[in-house]
Amino acid sequence: MPVSSGLVSRDRRSLILPQEQWMERRRVMHGLLSGTALKQYGAWQEEESTKMMAEYVFHPQRWYRHHYRYANSVIVRIALGEQPLKSTKELEEMQNAVTFFVGSIGRSVVDWFPDLAKLPWFLQVWRPYWARLGQWNYDLYAKWYNPVKAKVENGTAPPSFVRDFLMHPDTRFKGDCDDLMYVAMQLIEAGSDTTREALNIMTMAALEYPEVFAKARAEVDRVCGVGKDARLPTLEDMDALGYICAMCKEVLRWRPIFPLTPDHTASQDIEFEGYYFPAGTGFTINGPAVCGECEEPERFMPERWLDGHEQDIAHGLWQFGGGRRICVGYRLAQRSLFINIARLVQCVDYKPNGPYNAEILNLEAVGEPFPVRATLRGEQYKAMIVEEAKKVGVLEEARFNRDKLQ
Ligand code: HEM
Repeated sequence: MPVSSGLVSRDRRSLILPQEQWMERRRVMHGLLSGTALKQYGAWQEEESTKMMAEYVFHPQRWYRHHYRYANSVIVRIALGEQPLKSTKELEEMQNAVTFFVGSIGRSVVDWFPDLAKLPWFLQVWRPYWARLGQWNYDLYAKWYNPVKAKVENGTAPPSFVRDFLMHPDTRFKGDCDDLMYVAMQLIEAGSDTTREALNIMTMAALEYPEVFAKARAEVDRVCGVGKDARLPTLEDMDALGYICAMCKEVLRWRPIFPLTPDHTASQDIEFEGYYFPAGTGFTINGPAVCGECEEPERFMPERWLDGHEQDIAHGLWQFGGGRRICVGYRLAQRSLFINIARLVQCVDYKPNGPYNAEILNLEAVGEPFPVRATLRGEQYKAMIVEEAKKVGVLEEARFNRDKLQ
């Protein structure tokens, strides 16, 4: 893809690189899936989630911003080791980087007919526009990444994926400095927007299917107590909260985030159900079609996942891709969805705040994706969240209005 991969991504986003280029990047990214990493990062996910719940207490009308702030902060902490206090404007810029990149995939005819990129440069009239976007993207990445790189080099960086895997001498990563930067920053953009979108989809489901949310709340209440005896769910509750785990899967099935996964090429001949695909055939997963292969696909029905595999988010669900290229963040993503959905179900009531269309989630907008009135379940729940946020030291940050940052 000479435009989206070449000009916009400078041939450094593994997501759409050919095999010989993604393998080395993928090798280092696998550190994210290890049990030790998941345990260490789990503590940060819980803390950021507590902050998000407190943000709901102080600024409930900005519910959608809390989803993005959460998703971005968690992955920035994991990847770069920073506890970012980013302004709304900075978060919007990062969100735009994803939107512009994803929007560039296949938008230019050159990505469909890559030989056009072999024309003499003066005939490639599309180049300056996409190259400018690539430069803007590079500068944005550098602004976030360079201070962290400097700290790793001078030995003052806190634990992070960049410090402990990517730049660690034992890893022996074969790429150059810019490759390092793109691996780290790709994680941030891949991890932020997807998680935000999934939480927004959950909110839409809450408007459309209050009875499902009542059932889910009953499960959380059973495990975590009610009223003054209630506590916030934690990641350790995953085994006991099977219905919430099923909800996480249903959110991704009901309104698939990925209409198409990036296409992959068969490296050998394949025979499947009587069909023959020669090596070199391109494959992609048609998200809406695959997600619609079930009974009453339009219905939000977590029960369909209660099959003994509800804790395994990739089982029977193709929204993370599959096989060797399965999303490297899928376990982290599952834990983020679980902890936040469990807590939101427990503590927040959602009602429509004006007309909306349940088919349209307005995913690209920076504003509210659809009108919602979010209210806390009651004073006891507010107090519980505030107490918990105080305990982990995130109360003041949650109270703070990021719009005031420049
Ligand atoms: C609901 C959340 C998420 C969904 C639905 C999702 C989905 C996907 C999909 C469909 C792919 C492409 C798979 C393929 O090429 O076949 C992918 C790749 C990727 N995802 Fe995720 N993802 C999510 C969250 C995350 C998170 C939290 C992270 C970061 C830790 C992450 C990091 C990545 C990376 C780095 C790749 C590229 C992997 C490669 O090049 O092989 N994703 N994701």
